[in-house]
Amino acid sequence: MPTIHVPVLLKETLQYLVSRRDGVYIDATLGTGGHFTSLSEQLDQNAILIGIDTDPSAINYCSTHLSIKQKYILINSNFESIKAVCFRSGYPRTHGILMDLGMSSFTLDNPDRGLSYSVNGPLDMRFSPDLAKTASDIINTADQSELTTIFKTFGEERNSRSIARAIIDERQINTIKTTEQLAEIIRHKTHPLYVNKTLGRIFQALRIVVNRELEVLKKALKDAIDILEPDGRIVIITYHSLEDRIVKQYFKTESTDCVCPPEFPICQCSHKASIKLLTTKPILPGKDEIRNNSRARSAKLRAAKRI
Ligand SMILES: C[S@@+](CC[C@H](N)C(=O)[O-])C[C@H]1O[C@@H](n2cnc3c(N)ncnc32)[C@H](O)[C@@H]1O
Repeated sequence: MPTIHVPVLLKETLQYLVSRRDGVYIDATLGTGGHFTSLSEQLDQNAILIGIDTDPSAINYCSTHLSIKQKYILINSNFESIKAVCFRSGYPRTHGILMDLGMSSFTLDNPDRGLSYSVNGPLDMRFSPDLAKTASDIINTADQSELTTIFKTFGEERNSRSIARAIIDERQINTIKTTEQLAEIIRHKTHPLYVNKTLGRIFQALRIVVNRELEVLKKALKDAIDILEPDGRIVIITYHSLEDRIVKQYFKTESTDCVCPPEFPICQCSHKASIKLLTTKPILPGKDEIRNNSRARSAKLRAAKRI
């Protein structure tokens, strides 16, 4: 049986997301539909819900398991194309957008997806089968300096160079095809005290690169804010500091009128704020939520509304 994902920061998400009960709402990271279903329960019968996920198995799962009282549309697409997707569905403007980033427990715990270092499986890591390169492709073709940069930049791993070197050495003997092979190389190069953290960082780095996660997020943030109606809400839940930094920085810039360097005596940029922050600091899960759902422990929620 697939693991069912427990939605993170659910009460807080709904509190920030819903501005009117008859609006058009988009869950851009549908997963197994936990947030989507609870959102539906908060809305009137004439609201519209759109669920997007880049993973066709998430869409398939939701197509057969959800019970939603309103009109709803499920779309298999990357949220990078949120603007085009909404336009094509006939709802070019929306009152609320949710992005609950990363992957669901449903995907993480599936060994075939290669996202977890705790279970052996093919070293894939793609959120969507449409993506050209798997993690194994990268691990077996990138040179040492490229691997070092990936682990440093996207995993913030101090031991990046020696792990990259060990991967290149292993490649001379065997093609690295499974999560266990990669995990074993990392274990050999890491002090036992830090093994789990290092595994987490290296797997995170590869996953970010395979799915172009940061690049996609930057584009999607801009387009999502563009399609929000005035007073419409955007709620983003992130799970690592690289994502959170992007959201924090983008929200800061977009909620500020002038973004000229401080030394400019007069504004030259004519930038106008497009959003108002609803959360000045990120909202974090409480102890009870973390105790009941360990996946919530690194979550940070930020929300804003369109001016
Ligand atoms: C944390 S899960 C969402 C869980 C969901 N909120 C729930 O309650 O079931 C993140 C989901 O977003 C999807 N996803 C990740 N990046 C995406 C992207 N760029 N575009 C669309 N979906 C994406 C993943 O496939 C995964 O199903």
